[in-house]
Amino acid sequence: MRVDILTLFPQMFQSPFSAGIFQRAIDQRLVEVNLHNIRDYSHDKHHVVDDYAYGGGAGMILKPEPIFEAVETVKSDIGFQEGSGGLPVILLTPQGRPFSQSIAQELSRGKYLILICGRYEGVDERVREHLVTDEISIGDYVLNGGELAAMVVVDAVVRLLPGVLGSEASLLDDSYVAGLLEYPQYTRPQVFRGWTVPEVLLSGNHAQIAKWHREQAIRRTLKRRPELLDKADLRTAERQLVDRLKAEFHGGGVVLEESASLQSTSDK
Ligand code: ADE
Repeated sequence: MRVDILTLFPQMFQSPFSAGIFQRAIDQRLVEVNLHNIRDYSHDKHHVVDDYAYGGGAGMILKPEPIFEAVETVKSDIGFQEGSGGLPVILLTPQGRPFSQSIAQELSRGKYLILICGRYEGVDERVREHLVTDEISIGDYVLNGGELAAMVVVDAVVRLLPGVLGSEASLLDDSYVAGLLEYPQYTRPQVFRGWTVPEVLLSGNHAQIAKWHREQAIRRTLKRRPELLDKADLRTAERQLVDRLKAEFHGGGVVLEESASLQSTSDK
């Protein structure tokens, strides 16, 4: 995958992209990241990239010309034919659609990704109307610019590219992939400061362990992000468990991350 990032601060991207899984993905040529300084596409003497807002208002607005020129340069470098579709040009902005695992999956299936990092008080509206194909927000808070948001998007997308993570199975267990939060995990020692690893995980019974994982994921999701359960892909017995836990929860008696099991549900 080729990722092109337009920013006024390319230096911000140096360290996040030069460590761990990301660096390895670059070294293995699974991803290529090109940083473009928007200022390089401004041709006046002082390389001005922003200006006052028409109609007044506080703060400066990013001018359209350098952003259009930067995107058009990338498109021509890629050999992109206008109108052929399939090239996401995304503006990072708090006004965008909320970023999610499914957007990351959608983007990871493409060959190219162009990200534009907004700054200052905003971006000239014509960039939104006539250049970008999408706008993304990474959450309901305001950052100083789109750079950190672009890093989040690229990180989430790149780890989904084939070959980037060691084990494909670990992707399936990720929080959100099955519409559930991830279950609790343990490593050695078996007893740490008197706190023990749940017995079932030591049993070697893979079916029991898989069931426990699933139940714990459901309990955790119900406790922390109940709204996710509406869309989660659950079996009938699991839906019954959810209903039972909800009923107990409303009755005030349940500890959501322990006891009550699928077994006892199906026994009834
Ligand atoms: N730029 C500023 N805040 C942002 C946010 N929350 N998401 C994406 N881009 C941003």
